[in-house]
Amino acid sequence: MSKLWGGRFTKDTNKLVEEFTASIQFDQVMASEDIAGSIAHATMLGECGIIDQSDAELIIKGLNKLLVKIENNEVQFSVENEDIHMNIESMLIEEIGPVGGKLHTGRSRNDQVATDMHLYLRNKTELIIGLIENVQSIIVKKAKQHVHTIMPGYTHLQRAQPVSFAHHLLAYFWMLERDKGRYKDSLKRINISPLGAGALAGTTFPINRKRTADLLGFSDIYLNSLDAVSDRDFIVEFLSHSALLMSHISRLSEELVIWSSQEFQFVELDDAFCTGSSIMPQKKNPDVPELLRGKTGRVYGSLMGLLTVLKALPLAYNKDMQEDKEGMFDTVYTVEGSLQLLSGIIESMKVNESKMYEAVQKDYSNATDLADYLVRKNIPFRQAHEIVGKTVLYAIEEQKFLGELTIKEYKQINNVFESDIYDALHPKTVMEARISEGGTSSKEVLNQLFIAEESLKMS
Ligand code: ARG
Repeated sequence: MSKLWGGRFTKDTNKLVEEFTASIQFDQVMASEDIAGSIAHATMLGECGIIDQSDAELIIKGLNKLLVKIENNEVQFSVENEDIHMNIESMLIEEIGPVGGKLHTGRSRNDQVATDMHLYLRNKTELIIGLIENVQSIIVKKAKQHVHTIMPGYTHLQRAQPVSFAHHLLAYFWMLERDKGRYKDSLKRINISPLGAGALAGTTFPINRKRTADLLGFSDIYLNSLDAVSDRDFIVEFLSHSALLMSHISRLSEELVIWSSQEFQFVELDDAFCTGSSIMPQKKNPDVPELLRGKTGRVYGSLMGLLTVLKALPLAYNKDMQEDKEGMFDTVYTVEGSLQLLSGIIESMKVNESKMYEAVQKDYSNATDLADYLVRKNIPFRQAHEIVGKTVLYAIEEQKFLGELTIKEYKQINNVFESDIYDALHPKTVMEARISEGGTSSKEVLNQLFIAEESLKMS
């Protein structure tokens, strides 16, 4: 088969080389972006009188026809044509004849591929922002039902202080809010047009870059043609934001795995989101959160992969840059799927309030409040800490929890203790006492919920 660039060659390409250098196997997912870019380019070429208006119209018609064929799976992409750009161009020439060969006037695959990726990532970033918002609204819905549900809060995975389950869930709302902010901010840089930068230095034709940018909905154009074709920062950013998002998803997933274990039983994941064991009939495995946790790895890998490809790469285009795609596509699919599954898991999980409450009743997570009680009786915190530390030790030896020590025992420890100590140690009091801004008291959690809902309404 003759190549679009075959002129200066005297031999056919080695078959292995053809396979090795082709990207059509994966870049065909950008077919509609490639066609959109070409339609804008042809429109501009016609308007600027660089090609005849009638030729431009023929080209655009042909491209639209191809788009329908591609969408209906009626075309066969070929490795011989290397990538989506040359596949579409040669199909166009086949479709409308040699006039199709005018499309590539004043353009290179280098600005073309960059344009495709900007368009692709703009779509996907907007889609992902929507999926994040969906998870956020499910978190808010769940949190609303559990403002007064008390669970142990942990540090070092040791019981620390009781918290509202809504408060714990909302922590993830804010992580996602930051993720969303990062994706949104990156749109400013994604939405810049490299089209018209040519191979690297611009073009000799009187093109109108602003016009193609407008036609494609870009807000501006790259000001330097070398930068336009060499820049993959926007993909690195996307991968980096996705890596961080996945780290949040993996932390929540890990908690779901822990909470749904027999040892905790704080939540029960819906049957539809779990799988069984081929040998142990009793098993219900949290495969989905486990996989979400696991898939985080491949996204980190793609980020590291692209950073490594770009390191020390001279300007402008180098074939190495074709390696920017698979990690990007894979990350898009991974993030899309992960967010969709996460929504389903959170929405369908059952929260076992009584197990959570049972847990806070049988622990020492009210010890800080015992110390705070002493502080209110004018004992310096450091001293109060020491006294309570000894009290906990004593209680453990006596096999009692702090609420089970008698008032006599408390009086022996320190005379300032009164019978109101029991109320101060109650899990509900302990939770409700955390009234500082952003704390776990129901008043503060309700306030947080209000702000969270407002910010969802605004986006
Ligand atoms: N398939 C190529 C890529 O993905 C398109 C750009 C090729 N440009 C070139 N001069 N070889 O990077």
